[in-house]
Amino acid sequence: MAEITLKNIVKRYGDGYPAVNDVSLEIKDGEFMILVGPSGCGKSTLLRMIVGLEDITSGELRIGGKVVNKVAPRERNLAMVFQNYALYPHLTVFENIAFPLRLAKTPEDEVQRRVKETAELLELTDHLDRKPANLSGGQRQRVAMGRAIVREADAFLFDEPLSNLDAKLRGQMRTEISRLQRRLGVTTVYVTHDQTEAMTLGDRVAVLRKGVLQQVGSPRELYEQPTNLFVAGFIGSPSMNFLPATVDGTVLDTPLGRFDMRDRRKAEAVGDRTVVLVGIRPEHFEDASLVGDDRRERGAVVKARVDVTEWLGNELYAYVPYEAPADVAAQLRDLSQELDSDQLRTQAVVALDASSLISPGDEAELWIDTSRVHLFDPATGENLTRDEERAAALGRLADKEREAQRRAQRAEAEATSDTSDEDEDKGGTETAAG
Ligand SMILES: Nc1ncnc2c1ncn2[C@@H]1O[C@H](COP(=O)(O)OP(=O)(O)OP(=O)(O)O)[C@@H](O)[C@H]1O
Ligand SMILES: [Mg+2]
Repeated sequence: MAEITLKNIVKRYGDGYPAVNDVSLEIKDGEFMILVGPSGCGKSTLLRMIVGLEDITSGELRIGGKVVNKVAPRERNLAMVFQNYALYPHLTVFENIAFPLRLAKTPEDEVQRRVKETAELLELTDHLDRKPANLSGGQRQRVAMGRAIVREADAFLFDEPLSNLDAKLRGQMRTEISRLQRRLGVTTVYVTHDQTEAMTLGDRVAVLRKGVLQQVGSPRELYEQPTNLFVAGFIGSPSMNFLPATVDGTVLDTPLGRFDMRDRRKAEAVGDRTVVLVGIRPEHFEDASLVGDDRRERGAVVKARVDVTEWLGNELYAYVPYEAPADVAAQLRDLSQELDSDQLRTQAVVALDASSLISPGDEAELWIDTSRVHLFDPATGENLTRDEERAAALGRLADKEREAQRRAQRAEAEATSDTSDEDEDKGGTETAAG
């Protein structure tokens, strides 16, 4: 078990390009940290520096308190699972899992014990004598994970381990990885593109953009209180809508209409800027005809022409194109491209109650939950209305939940080991090098 501390980590490749640029990040002992960001933002590079497959240009990397910048990969005792995990086709599942132990010349009885324990954990016991070719995709993925687990490494590093699996299997494996990590309590860094994985797997999420760390926080904190336009646009699907607006006190004049956000604090945060980008998540709109009077009071209503609708059973998406000044339109287009998304153009996506009867071509009355609106500086992307107090409270909530979860898992693990284990007093926590 170990914490991993990155201090001002920089990676410049041969051509001088800073793939990772001054990243500082503290991953606590036993924490599950998710790394997300668009393609090419430096996620894999960061992981590879942690395991030691890539030199660190400058900065300090500590594992379990020790500086390891110059320590060889096999002496770091970390286990990495890649997207394109390779199993040895001629070896059985047992020998595939046992492989790192064989390399380390671990005694046979210990190999037997540890592989069997690992197989039990991953529900592979019935398959130990089979060859990888005869397994399903999910089973193969579990064998690859078994090989990482069997080493009793100080930390797990995953680089998009599920991206080759189909949607259903991904869902299953996601749950399994989450359970396993909590049960073993091993520090984990997990790279993903997938919104659902990012939001559900980790204790905290770190968002990278062009090698620069943007924000680290619990999924909920990133979702509710993003620090900037980039994080706001990256986290959540469909993405947050960004509308250019001129500000007059608490009144916002947007392409969807004028409305009063009736919030002095937010108005003050705008300072002397006259133009801002208003961020509204799709679900913070509603069909105004479905909003009761008391709720209506707590928001604002705008009128807008709906272009396309999609009824999904549990909700209704409506697309509302709007006009924006050329420079803002260009900015939104750039951001959209960088986020690998086809959204965020000059079109708002609103998620309405499924009972809504709004249809394409309608001049629809849309209610906006103004308390959830964020305002961004169009030049710097900074979120002007981030609520630090709320963000801190969400951070504490996440810590509390994590503690409770860990305690429950530990109790469960102890209960099962009390009933099923006989003598396991020596060598239980020995680690294998390599
Ligand atoms: N060996 C290398 N030599 C030079 N540049 C590299 C090398 N490996 C990666 N890069 C560059 O470093 C940047 C970060 O790459 P990295 O593979 O870490 O991105 P990533 O976030 O993992 O992307 P993806 O989501 O596509 O896997 C990219 O711009 C890439 O072109
Ligand atoms: Mg990568």
